[in-house]
Amino acid sequence: MTITGRRGFLKGSLAAMGGGLAAAATGGTARAAGDIKVNEWMKTLGEGVVSRPYGLPSEYESHVRRRWVEWLTATRESSVSFTPIQDLDGIVTPNGLCFERHHGGIAEVDPSEYRLMINGLVEKPLIFTLDDLKRMPRVNRFYFLECAANSGMEWRGAQLNGCQYTHGMIHCLQYTGVALKTVLEQAGIRPNGKWILAEGGDASGLDRSIPIEKALDDCMLAFAMNGEALRPEQGYPVRLVVPGWEGNMWIKWIRRIEVGDEPWHTREETSKYTDLMEDGRSRRFTWIMDAKSVVTSPSPQAPLKYKGVNVLSGLAWSGRGKVKRVDVTFDGGRNWVEAELAPPVLSRCLTRFHVNFEWDGRPLLIQSRCIDETGYIQPTKDELRAVRGTNSIYHNNGIQTWHVMASGEVENVEIS
Ligand code: MTE
Ligand code: CO
Repeated sequence: MTITGRRGFLKGSLAAMGGGLAAAATGGTARAAGDIKVNEWMKTLGEGVVSRPYGLPSEYESHVRRRWVEWLTATRESSVSFTPIQDLDGIVTPNGLCFERHHGGIAEVDPSEYRLMINGLVEKPLIFTLDDLKRMPRVNRFYFLECAANSGMEWRGAQLNGCQYTHGMIHCLQYTGVALKTVLEQAGIRPNGKWILAEGGDASGLDRSIPIEKALDDCMLAFAMNGEALRPEQGYPVRLVVPGWEGNMWIKWIRRIEVGDEPWHTREETSKYTDLMEDGRSRRFTWIMDAKSVVTSPSPQAPLKYKGVNVLSGLAWSGRGKVKRVDVTFDGGRNWVEAELAPPVLSRCLTRFHVNFEWDGRPLLIQSRCIDETGYIQPTKDELRAVRGTNSIYHNNGIQTWHVMASGEVENVEIS
């Protein structure tokens, strides 16, 4: 086995590796009882109610924040920030921590001026206000959104050090809104209406072609995330939700939907979200996000601090349905254990997994592998490259490897 880090081959660490791991933790974590300090907050009155009209996290959690990589893009207006998945638990992303991807900056839309137009091959072109949409039958659903470029910098080898950067172009929210089908049916789709064009109201006017089958199946026009109005960063007041499909189709600040008889775009014409293969050909219409997973702790931004019992935690997802199983290895794939899936396990939603383990201080090579309900198995990065080459940025769902060193620090590596 060869281990390749971000700066080249790693030597010596593997020899020490091996059976230093018991997957079922048996020890405890409590300390012997002793004196407990009396702190200031135990003796003084705290602030009263509504001293924080919109609550924020504790000041001790200020490290939990979106981050960006400066050299990735020329400007912040057409850039991406990353969700700090190493600091989160469960499956829901807090509203203020959702990664953002803008092509023309954040549009600040006045909801009273908001309009959604439906035109094209419909019986009756219509315009909806935000209040009109809110008076239509509601849908509430949990879904993940993953940018097609998530893990895109890792195609040619381990590059970014931390799952916030390697896997943080993802969020998972409870959406409230209206089924797109309900809105389209009010307008009445003509028999030759086979595609929709969804168009954003921001300065980039980002638009995407979506087949009518998907539009009528499970797409939503969402106006709320996790129980409150959408955040401006996520497309306030209304965004399109396209469950299981790549993030760039989830049009934010959506202003228009046109029904047509053919796609407006080929992959080659739209914002370069194209999977370029080794032979110069491109994959067309790669909309669905394949099964993927990542261990969020331990990871480079969440090192191991203690020997003995520890909890490995991670996220798995599939754009094709539910996660069926997640396997975890601590020795670079020689032995695998089945992770515990923490309910709820929902379709096209993040699924949280755990493995309790004992660490004796020896180096580890940690990976996770997701299997979805269609039976699809998350591939290794080399398996992916064998089929797709290394020209692409998009749809990298290869297995991630974390190298845990004796110090407990963790590094992004690849093994072959
Ligand atoms: N919609 C509009 N109108 N403008 C945009 O720039 N970016 C797209 C999509 N929808 C974009 C957009 C891309 S590439 C992604 S990955 C998702 O929005 C990101 O959604 P988020 O900002 O909520 O994370
Ligand atoms: Co994107």
